[in-house]
Amino acid sequence: MASNCYVCHNDKLKSGGLALTALDISAPAKNIESWEKVIRKLGTGAMPPAGMPRPDKATADGLRRYLETELDRAALAHPNPGRPGLQRLNRADTPTQSRDLLALNIDGASLLPPDTAGYGFDNNADALSLSPALTERYLNAAAKISQTALERPRGAPTPETFFRTTDRSEAGRFSDDMPFGTRGGLAIHYIFLPTAIT
Ligand code: HEC
Repeated sequence: MASNCYVCHNDKLKSGGLALTALDISAPAKNIESWEKVIRKLGTGAMPPAGMPRPDKATADGLRRYLETELDRAALAHPNPGRPGLQRLNRADTPTQSRDLLALNIDGASLLPPDTAGYGFDNNADALSLSPALTERYLNAAAKISQTALERPRGAPTPETFFRTTDRSEAGRFSDDMPFGTRGGLAIHYIFLPTAIT
């Protein structure tokens, strides 16, 4: 196959900036990026350019498989998962942290806007940007949480509305949170955070 490619991808012509003659085909792992490109071109049949003699399909497929196997083997031997990015707390982390650090069960959704997801994950460091406005929201949330933890809330509690399911029977005691002998009603564990931040 290679001769079909070396016509152009040699040290002299370097077509497309690629000199395959300079690469060691017996050790593809030494030039991963270049061979990855070759794999892609072979897979789509985009190389050699139309009108130029091309390797037959079996040869091109054979080379592609060889390169893929070698690169996969090298990747397995030296896995490179990249490095973790610096990640800010997201809306789901904040209540967890408040609970773990301060024993406060707060409702993150009432404090912070939803996070954008990256590749389906809302804790993807790349997707979790921090704008000045969002920083403000986090500082606000932190102030409310810490005031509540210290039992020194400033301002009135933020009102919250709770809805009861309409199809529930009111015949018996609602839950263990209700006094004995009561019927129906509603019991909720909720920490009302302060409204004002100063
Ligand atoms: C007639 C000359 C010619 C032949 C023969 C040829 N190429 Fe190319 N190749 C080019 C040119 C010109 C470019 C740059 C333009 C482009 O990408 O289409 C290129 C680009 C490429 C690139 C992309 C390089 C980059 O950095 O993006 C790869 C990979 C490649 N060729 C692989 C091959 C392989 C594998 C063969 C043999 C099966 C082959 N080429 C045969 C002329 C050729």
